[in-house]
Amino acid sequence: MTERFITSTLNKRDSAKETTLRPPTFAEFPGQEKVKEQLELFVKAATARDEALDHILLSGPPGLGKTTLAYIIANERGTKLKSSSGPAIEKPGDLAGLLTSLEPGDVLFIDEIHRLSTTVEEYLYSAMEDFFIDIMLEQGAGSRSVRLSVPRFTLIGATTRLGMISAPLRARFGLNIRLDYYDPESLSEIIKRSADILDVELEDEGAKVIAGRCRGTPRIANNLLRRARDYAQVRADSVVTGEVASAALEMLQIDSDGLDEMDIRILETIICNFRGGPVGLKNIAVSVGEEEDAIEDVYEPFLIQKGYLTRTPKGRVATPKAWRKLGLDQATGREMELF
Ligand SMILES: Nc1ncnc2c1ncn2[C@@H]1O[C@H](COP(=O)(O)OP(=O)(O)OP(=O)(O)O)[C@@H](O)[C@H]1O
Ligand SMILES: [Mg+2]
Repeated sequence: MTERFITSTLNKRDSAKETTLRPPTFAEFPGQEKVKEQLELFVKAATARDEALDHILLSGPPGLGKTTLAYIIANERGTKLKSSSGPAIEKPGDLAGLLTSLEPGDVLFIDEIHRLSTTVEEYLYSAMEDFFIDIMLEQGAGSRSVRLSVPRFTLIGATTRLGMISAPLRARFGLNIRLDYYDPESLSEIIKRSADILDVELEDEGAKVIAGRCRGTPRIANNLLRRARDYAQVRADSVVTGEVASAALEMLQIDSDGLDEMDIRILETIICNFRGGPVGLKNIAVSVGEEEDAIEDVYEPFLIQKGYLTRTPKGRVATPKAWRKLGLDQATGREMELF
């Protein structure tokens, strides 16, 4: 049996499992030092002044800790958090319902905030800025509106697509925080912490192997740890050593640079079908049989960060590093002698 476990599966949200692994405080949240420093200071200052925090926008690829940080902020500020998401807030009335249920100082967390409808977004502006919303009571002739006041709340918005947030919305956030992929040391710490919680016997070397091959993403690191634990249980004596972790990752078709089967397929498509690019996202998506969203959110940012891909106005282009990765000579298109 070959297991196909490509990244979009590994990066799927699984709230039940994630809740247990979510660090509740800044102190227990490894990595993102600059972000943490900024947020901690922000929270402390607001606490000292006994004011509601200013609105915060968190952006970055999936699985890096946006939701986790939103909960930590509310927790450290000692306030309640109410959670919703862009697609769930369909009408202005839904937003009004959410806002009026808040108490002063509470956090309203809106996940996937780039997916709010324009109408709802416009209602949000006055709520964020002046803490009121005007709700239309009837349609057409005889329509009238009532002004509802909203308690001073903190909006925390999360998005994987900063580019899709309109300028007026973006401007209404006091703090705009961008999360980036984690370094291997922080990832090792995260993996060890998760292993403790999940009661997995994990050697340092095992943590290191997973840290190096999880695309800098804590959610993937946690999922790979679980898969390595399965492997260790069945094929080794339950201890996740370096060797066991490597074997488990190999079975999942994740290579030593952390690229999976889909990453390779994307690079192959660009290079073999489109001579290295430039090629548009749609063409890539159709060729590899993956959704455009998944490519743009999950695969592309990592391939760009690792230097395999660049984005140009005309489309995506494979870099010389990508050609080398596939063992191809960019000048001739022929296979290279690798050794
Ligand atoms: N710094 C961290 N330390 C420990 N665990 C972390 C850290 N960051 C994220 N995680 C873990 O990774 C998983 C994903 O985190 P989270 O849900 O916060 O990501 P997200 O950025 O909100 O992703 P998405 O864009 O898919 O909503 C959770 O299980 C969380 O516990
Ligand atoms: Mg999230």
